[in-house]
Amino acid sequence: MTTTLEKLEILPLSPTIGAEIRGVDLSQPLDDRTVSAIKVAWHDHIVLLFRDQDIDTEQQIAFAEHFGDVGTRSRPAERRPEGADYNASIMLVSNIKKDGEYIGSLPDGEMWFHHDMCYDRAPHKGTFLYAMELPSTGGNTLFANMYAAYEVLSDETKERIKGQRALQIYDFATREVVDISGDIAKYKHEIQPVAITHPVTGKKALYVNPLITARIEDWPEDESRALLDELFTFGENPDIIYEHEWREGDLIMWDNWCSCHARTDFPASERRMLRRCTVKGQPLYE
Ligand code: SIN
Repeated sequence: MTTTLEKLEILPLSPTIGAEIRGVDLSQPLDDRTVSAIKVAWHDHIVLLFRDQDIDTEQQIAFAEHFGDVGTRSRPAERRPEGADYNASIMLVSNIKKDGEYIGSLPDGEMWFHHDMCYDRAPHKGTFLYAMELPSTGGNTLFANMYAAYEVLSDETKERIKGQRALQIYDFATREVVDISGDIAKYKHEIQPVAITHPVTGKKALYVNPLITARIEDWPEDESRALLDELFTFGENPDIIYEHEWREGDLIMWDNWCSCHARTDFPASERRMLRRCTVKGQPLYE
């Protein structure tokens, strides 16, 4: 049965970021008015949660396609686990092993705040993560509102970062930024504005994070480090963060341009598996 707008409810999850959408069955087709309402809610709340969903890979992709062209994964073929089922649009986030190899990516433990694919010229706009198997505790995902992170900066700091750009570089680690003292050519990297203007909402968002942002371009190393450390304190500001405790059947979609996310630790002995796809984006500067 098609979901209709009349059944849709939007309930904020925190004062600054996130809303739960009720009355939508993502395994079924959505009418145009419902999709439009979800798009508006997405731009208003940045992170949307749909509970109690029972969807397969195709249904997850079909839902994501309402919001853009579904992207392909960025991890090079040689870095993918051998023997893992492979669909170019789907990434399993999992610590489960098959024949001694992880079946997915980002397997274990805490993960630092990051924007997905900010090391790409056209960072993907949205990520869709569906919870399939969860540990008994931990493995929560935290989402930070990066409009708010920008907004709370002092006028002086806003002035200092105006027009500045930063090196975003990634090696698929979870708690370690790439060491850029050597040749960085082999790593995925891109120079991005320190604060972007969101292409759809036109609002300014801070666009740096401790996992992937290595350096402010053309700044002396000590000054760059000091500024980045100051900017990264957004991660300690509970006013702009929503922490999601997953339940199986949760689907969360988030806007990668104006939010970043992190993960809390969880027992390595317990299985965790989520299925992820993304929708493509565009360059965030001329
Ligand atoms: C991710 O950063 O995409 C993974 C988040 C999670 O495992 O909760």
